[in-house]
Amino acid sequence: MINIAVLGFGVVGSGTVKLLHDNAGSIRRRCGEDVRVKKILDLRDFPDSPYASLITHDFSEIVNDPSISVAAEMIGGIRPAFDFTLALLRAGKSVVTSNKELVAEHGTELLAEAEKHGVFYCFEASVGGGIPVIRPLKEDLGGTNAIERIDGILNGTTNYILTEMKEKGISFDTALRQAQQNGYAEADPRADVEGLDACRKIAILGAVAFGRMLPVDRIPTEGITALRAADEAMAGRLGFTVKLIATARRTGEGKIAASVRPRLVPRDNPLSSVSGVFNGVLVKGNYVGDVMFYGRGAGAEPTASAVASDIVNIAEKGKGNRFSWTDAGEDEIFDESTLSRRYYLACPAAAAPASLPAERSLTENGTVAAITLPLKENEILALKQEIRSRCGEECRVLEVL
Ligand code: HSE
Repeated sequence: MINIAVLGFGVVGSGTVKLLHDNAGSIRRRCGEDVRVKKILDLRDFPDSPYASLITHDFSEIVNDPSISVAAEMIGGIRPAFDFTLALLRAGKSVVTSNKELVAEHGTELLAEAEKHGVFYCFEASVGGGIPVIRPLKEDLGGTNAIERIDGILNGTTNYILTEMKEKGISFDTALRQAQQNGYAEADPRADVEGLDACRKIAILGAVAFGRMLPVDRIPTEGITALRAADEAMAGRLGFTVKLIATARRTGEGKIAASVRPRLVPRDNPLSSVSGVFNGVLVKGNYVGDVMFYGRGAGAEPTASAVASDIVNIAEKGKGNRFSWTDAGEDEIFDESTLSRRYYLACPAAAAPASLPAERSLTENGTVAAITLPLKENEILALKQEIRSRCGEECRVLEVL
């Protein structure tokens, strides 16, 4: 019998308890023994839940219980999740988590602590909801391939909002409310719509793929709040779909860079057809080429599936559970602004420079929208400045993936 504790009985926590109950038979066959939820820690009481008798408000009942060998932390945020996780690892208990904020901010330290105490800290559910991506990235692609880059749609809430607005014509606020009702959004949904959630996730994927954790404040991040429906429509007519894309890459010199922005995705890129709450992670290895991971990126059941996968993997005590990386040093962080890339640029037709360096463009209702030739950041900034001085308005610029 493997006794586990669940920390946080919210959307993901209750989904995990339900999965462990519903799929108990197959889990027993896989682990060779039963996995039983012994305690559930939450501030609240759940008198109507079938698990009401397992609820405790006292963390010491878990950390001091020698029969509990694994805890699933689904509280989210840094405090008290960090202190609880540290105490559990030090008490010789493995911890699995869906808490991307904690892994991105303190993963380096928590992994070292797990190693020191001969236990595991696993976080499959922290990225991509139900998609098995962390372990395959490490086990099946890591080492055998040099990972060159990762491009991902890593936030289910924003992808759901963008899809609903485009396909059903509903407002941003309505789409966000639906995402919250479906259990996709963070407690504070600004983390979703302002890109921070995707930023934490690309930091984690970068750490797994490249062995270096970038500080989140060194990952340029923009969300979807400034996007305009008119630009999405124009981008569509130019052959692109606008998606919130997180990227991480390793340069030839071994430096790494990551960023999160709404980007125009060409229709022949598989990420362009990732819709709704689904996430997609496109990984490029130097031998395998492109590998695409796809599945539901948020919600109780998919995320519970990922949490449960960590629990059963730990039950098997495999080496696949041992992760490690170091924090990226200043000299290992690559300045992305030095790269040339294509941009979408839209401005009043009268203000468009005659010599706009564009590979294609269209004009509609007095607005020109163009896909530029590859430009460096200073070149696109100069173009913006030129347009502002002609018409007194900011042109709209988005990167092309
Ligand atoms: N708020 C997150 C999302 C939940 O929408 O992707 C899953 O990490």
